[in-house]
Amino acid sequence: MKDATFIIFGATGDLTRRKIIPAIYKLVKNKKLRSFRIIGCARSKKNIQTILSQSKKFARDVQASRWRKIVKNSVYQVLDFYKEEDYTQLAVLLGKQQRIFYLATAPEHFHIISKYLAKYKLARKTDNVVYEKPFGHDLYSAKKINKCISTVFNEKQIYRIDHYLGKELVGDITLMRFTNRILEPLWNSKHIAQIQIVMTEDLLVGKRGGFYDKYGVLKDVVQNHALQLLALTAMEAPKMLSGEYIRSEKARVLKRTQVTAALVGQYHGYKSEPGVTKNSTTETFAALQLKINNSRWRGVPFYILAGKALVKKQTSIHIKFKEVHCLLAKSCPSDSNYFTIRIQPDNGFSLELNSKMPGKKQAIIPVNMDFCEKCRFGPNTPEAYETLLEDVLCGDQSVFVRKDEIEYAWKIIDRVRKGKIYSYKKGTGGPPALDAWNKKNGVLWKEVSK
Ligand code: BG6
Repeated sequence: MKDATFIIFGATGDLTRRKIIPAIYKLVKNKKLRSFRIIGCARSKKNIQTILSQSKKFARDVQASRWRKIVKNSVYQVLDFYKEEDYTQLAVLLGKQQRIFYLATAPEHFHIISKYLAKYKLARKTDNVVYEKPFGHDLYSAKKINKCISTVFNEKQIYRIDHYLGKELVGDITLMRFTNRILEPLWNSKHIAQIQIVMTEDLLVGKRGGFYDKYGVLKDVVQNHALQLLALTAMEAPKMLSGEYIRSEKARVLKRTQVTAALVGQYHGYKSEPGVTKNSTTETFAALQLKINNSRWRGVPFYILAGKALVKKQTSIHIKFKEVHCLLAKSCPSDSNYFTIRIQPDNGFSLELNSKMPGKKQAIIPVNMDFCEKCRFGPNTPEAYETLLEDVLCGDQSVFVRKDEIEYAWKIIDRVRKGKIYSYKKGTGGPPALDAWNKKNGVLWKEVSK
């Protein structure tokens, strides 16, 4: 059990309500926190009760007595990120406990907040500072932030968050790859035909139009979440399955990755969303082909499909193996084997194998060997933000993104040639032009089946 004060910058934002406060609540509920305080900071005048009551519904299965603790231990402080005197006010509220500063703000404020946290000695050497994504908006800005924060903090205090790294099945990618003898020998260009990373959402931009319009899908989820999935799937075996080694291998593979084809789209009606500019050219959909220039992956295309307002919410990685040489007289397999990692929903993984069709001598059909996490371990696996905040409390940076990884990922995105932006209807699979793009670039997106 730990003691900590959480100081949340951007406390009036969506993320605080939906994710950060519920995650702190879970830590309290699961007895990971003994004594704690929450100090919410933002520019506007707000009442902490309002923020907490909006947050309660996202905490799920709330026990009244534990929630009362949250209410009792939380305060709100009006703080203009650019006013030095506001930081001295904040200092008055801080006790001796370990401090976790959570910058849930737009990245343009990271610089100034970090500077004043250091100047007024609010963040001591033993305290940690969490930076929410997006970490900049391109390579240049990310480098600038990295440079600035590394002059005031030690890298050991810096936690660049990518909440996908806190998801159970994402944590399982390396464990599964390197603890199963049957996987690793096949995990290369000799046996794998292609890898697809599908990250679709049915949601629209909602109330985040103002933010989203400045970023678009490539900067919002591909630069971080999708490229982290790619790095974990493609990296070489680390010396040990522990944080620093894994981060080094991820960085190494990102350094050698580039986008070789792209198709971007925007959903109908996006330009009328609140906060979005009327002539916006921001993409809400992207299909990418990527290549990794190393001996393991040379010749194997990786694909990423990501977007909003699509048919359904799903994040999966499909590893498509090469086809076997057909020894059957009549019906050969129509497709190859797949190994699918379902990040969400229905967390789990499955291996699709060809098997005999009952009652027929030489007919085969694909069947699935499936692992469903919920069915095996029950529904209460921790939420990503809970796992990540616990790691920050314990000083474990393993699943946080290192400076070099972030910069390599931005370099990949900065170089994408977007081309024409195709529009698509909400609730569909993307722009109609995708069909021709798929054919040209050699991909047939795998449907998730169990
Ligand atoms: C966030 C993006 O990082 O990830 C959102 O800013 C996106 O636009 C979200 O909806 C998806 O996360 P999850 O965990 O719901 O898949």
